[in-house]
Amino acid sequence: MTDVINGNAIAESVREGLSACVDTFSEAGVVPGLATVLVGEDPASETYVSMKQRDCEEMGLNGVHVALDADAPPGELYDVIEDLNADPEIHGYLVQDPVPEQIDYREVLRRIDPAKDVDGFHPENVGRLVAGNPRFKPCTPHGVQKLLAAREVNPEGKDVTIVGRSSIVGKPLANLLLQKAQGGNATVTVCHSRTENIDEKTRGADIVVAAVGVPEFVDSSMLSEGAIVIDVGVNRVEADTEKGYELVGDVEYEGAAEKASAITPVPGGVGPMTRTMLLYNTVKAASQQEDVAVDLP
Ligand code: GUN
Repeated sequence: MTDVINGNAIAESVREGLSACVDTFSEAGVVPGLATVLVGEDPASETYVSMKQRDCEEMGLNGVHVALDADAPPGELYDVIEDLNADPEIHGYLVQDPVPEQIDYREVLRRIDPAKDVDGFHPENVGRLVAGNPRFKPCTPHGVQKLLAAREVNPEGKDVTIVGRSSIVGKPLANLLLQKAQGGNATVTVCHSRTENIDEKTRGADIVVAAVGVPEFVDSSMLSEGAIVIDVGVNRVEADTEKGYELVGDVEYEGAAEKASAITPVPGGVGPMTRTMLLYNTVKAASQQEDVAVDLP
C-alpha cells in the first residue's frame, strides 16, 4: 500500500509544539509578531497571505498585514520595510513574491533585517544556509525535511533528485539535504530546464521532489518502483468548478501513487507544512529577539 503522506496531520503536530512555545512567551508577556507585505493584487498571492494571517490568528500570534497598491513606487515599500525593521512588536516579516515590475525583489530582500527575515531569503541568511549554519531554514524546504522525518525517512546516504532550481525551493532544499546534519547527508541532484534526460535522474532516485511549477510534469514513467515522491507544486488549472480552477501538483498523482511507496497529495501535502514552518520561524525569531528560551518542535 502506498503511504499517502498527510501534511495536514503532520503540520498539526508541529503546531501543537509551537502552541506550547506561544504559552511560554505569554508567561513572559510577549506575543510573537508576524507581518506580511503584499504589493498589488495577484490573486494567488492574496490567497497565500490571507492564509498566513489566518494561521497567526489561530496560533495566537500578532499578525499584521500591509497592502500596497500595484503601482506603489519602490520608496513606499522601502519605508514600510524600514518601519517593520524598527518595530519591536514585529519579530518576523516577509514581502510576498512576485512583486510588480517597478520593484527589484533582490533590493527588497537586502533591506530586510536578516534577524526578521523569516523566509530565509536575505543574502546573509542564504549564505548561512549554504555554509551549514542556518538562522532560518526556508519554509518549504524545512517543511519537506519535517515531512520526511515524520515518516522516519532518513535522507542520509539516499539519492534525492529535485526537479526545479528556484531560490524558494530547489536551491535551499538541495542545501538543506546536503548538510552534514540530522535530516541531511543525502546525495542530491538538482534538475532544471537545461538538464538532459531528466527522467534518468528521477528514475535513479530514492526520493524525488517535484518543484518545477509545471502541472503534472513528473509522471510514473520517471519514477522507480518504491520511490518516495514529494510534490511541492501548486498549479491553478482551469476546471469546471465553482472557482473556475482546481489545484494540481507537479506530479501526475494517480500514476505516481501506484508506483511510489509514499507520496504527498496536492492539496494537503507540502502546503500546510510550508505555512507551519513560517510560524516556526516567527517563534524562533521572537525567541532570539526577546531572549525567551522555547522548546521548538
Ligand atoms: N511566493 C511564493 N512563495 C513564497 C514564499 O515562501 N515567500 C514569499 N515571500 N513569497 C512567496
